[in-house]
Amino acid sequence: MERNINLDSELYSPQPIPFQTVKEFLTKTLPELGWGQSNEEETIFDAGCGPGGTTVKFILPLFPRLKKCFAVDILPSMIDSAKKHNFDPKIEYSIANLEDWSSLEHFENQITKFVSVYCFHWLKDPRKGFENAFRLLKPGGEAAITCVLLSSYYSALIEMHNNPAWTNLFQVSF
Ligand SMILES: C[S@@+](CC[C@H](N)C(=O)[O-])C[C@H]1O[C@@H](n2cnc3c(N)ncnc32)[C@H](O)[C@@H]1O
Repeated sequence: MERNINLDSELYSPQPIPFQTVKEFLTKTLPELGWGQSNEEETIFDAGCGPGGTTVKFILPLFPRLKKCFAVDILPSMIDSAKKHNFDPKIEYSIANLEDWSSLEHFENQITKFVSVYCFHWLKDPRKGFENAFRLLKPGGEAAITCVLLSSYYSALIEMHNNPAWTNLFQVSF
């Protein structure tokens, strides 16, 4: 089934209301990995930042030695909303596609910490996303990604697709 990115940034609150799993990832898992405890200046990358609320409220405070945060999203409307509602002088928001190296190459080899919250399950080719994340990292850099691997939502979609009452509403492209 085709997964078009048809997200409306207006429907996303610029103030984050993270799921409990996301909260735990950001406030427990990352500190347990030692994130934010380095004496080195950090250059971080938030992949699929949406309207930037999670970047500002949860990711930035983890890094007392933050030099710069690059936060990217594939949707221009998300980046517009982030710039408008979640400005921070240390964050540089821009449009980029995690699956398209040409939109990322200017960040190559610069990132000390790559983080992504609930974005990788949107990728058609997650392998490409992981390869690109690796190329962004400085030697010794680290990545932490949280995304949905299994959800009843996916089985519901497949059941709907197989149901004659709904199937014509789905576009299939494998
Ligand atoms: C569920 S939102 C999460 C936003 C944010 N990380 C948060 O926690 O609030 C997923 C975001 O990933 C972005 N996204 C999806 N595919 C992407 C891609 N290939 N490259 C960059 N961003 C992408 C979407 O536009 C959307 O803003």
